[in-house]
Amino acid sequence: MTNIEQLVRQDLKDIQPYPIDRQGNQNGIWLDMNELPWDPCEQMAIQGINRYPLPNPPALMCQLANYYGVSQENLILTRGSDDGIDALMRLFCHPFRDEVIISSPTFSMYGVSAKLQGAKIIDVPLDADFSWNKTAVEKSINSKTKIIFICSPNNPTGNLIPAEEILALAEKVSTQAIVVVDEAYIEFSDTMSMTSKIEQVSNLVILRTLSKAFGLAGIRCGVAIAEKKLIKFLQALLPPFPVSQFTLKAAMQATTWENIERIKGYIEIVKTQRAFLQEKLSKFAFVKKIWPSQANFLLMQCDDVNKIYWYCVEQGFMLRKFNDKSQLHDCLRLSVGLPSQNEKLLNVLAAVTG
Ligand SMILES: Cc1ncc(COP(=O)(O)O)c(C=O)c1O
Repeated sequence: MTNIEQLVRQDLKDIQPYPIDRQGNQNGIWLDMNELPWDPCEQMAIQGINRYPLPNPPALMCQLANYYGVSQENLILTRGSDDGIDALMRLFCHPFRDEVIISSPTFSMYGVSAKLQGAKIIDVPLDADFSWNKTAVEKSINSKTKIIFICSPNNPTGNLIPAEEILALAEKVSTQAIVVVDEAYIEFSDTMSMTSKIEQVSNLVILRTLSKAFGLAGIRCGVAIAEKKLIKFLQALLPPFPVSQFTLKAAMQATTWENIERIKGYIEIVKTQRAFLQEKLSKFAFVKKIWPSQANFLLMQCDDVNKIYWYCVEQGFMLRKFNDKSQLHDCLRLSVGLPSQNEKLLNVLAAVTG
């Protein structure tokens, strides 16, 4: 069993959340936060924005806890998973002392946040077929390792990392490090989230976001899910009012039971379109390889990648091209679009090779 108090930075051990007593006093007269007592604009679509938002509004927390299958105490709202990554980095890593492990190619913000915090990045790359190498990760663990980031399904390769391997690793490092599983794309996969494991594995943190499957990238909202002591630390570390009223309202509407059913319909369309695109793309002569994906994007290795990329740009399509020096220098990543957009893209790609 992990003692989270031993793992967090010792100079943050006594950190306390900013005190906000409104939760149980929704109908009171609020004179405690120097707000204007009028709503600023009658035409505004959302009321109550003269008030600071509740950091974890009970109705939203209840909906999210139901959706993620955890209890409310195991959940904290973040301004998207980027914010969760950054907060964890600051909570666990002493600048210029501690280390984090990532497995490239992967989501770039783990490296960015580590650098900002002054944590050393130990990169244990994925194998040539993009599978995650648990043995190599274990070998690179030392007494300074504080966070191991695992992205599953991984961005940009689209593959899942086996849950049993993640759990075994978490067990192995339970007295010294946390394992963060970023499940930004899990809704598009054929597997279960690992949220149900947090009860047994107290050094496991799951990051989920409303940016992808829920289509709410613009509101900046996600959650970190973990054992309750760790959640309390995150509460104390994040600013007192991290998420705006607009965001809370949109998140509330998006995560109702009825809307989740609607979203499931969209997810099915993405999965069908992903299979359709993969099949069609693999037939183009310039596509050397296209990897199976459990996310809402596909990664393909191309001949003459620059020509393909810039032709698509000319035709109005933005795809993702990678740094010329990276492992993926001859690859393009494309998100699954609307069926009509996917058809159009296939026509453009058919024309590029002429
Ligand atoms: C793997 C992964 N994690 C996190 C994020 C960022 O999520 P959010 O929008 O919730 O900050 C992204 C965004 O592309 C991502 O690919």
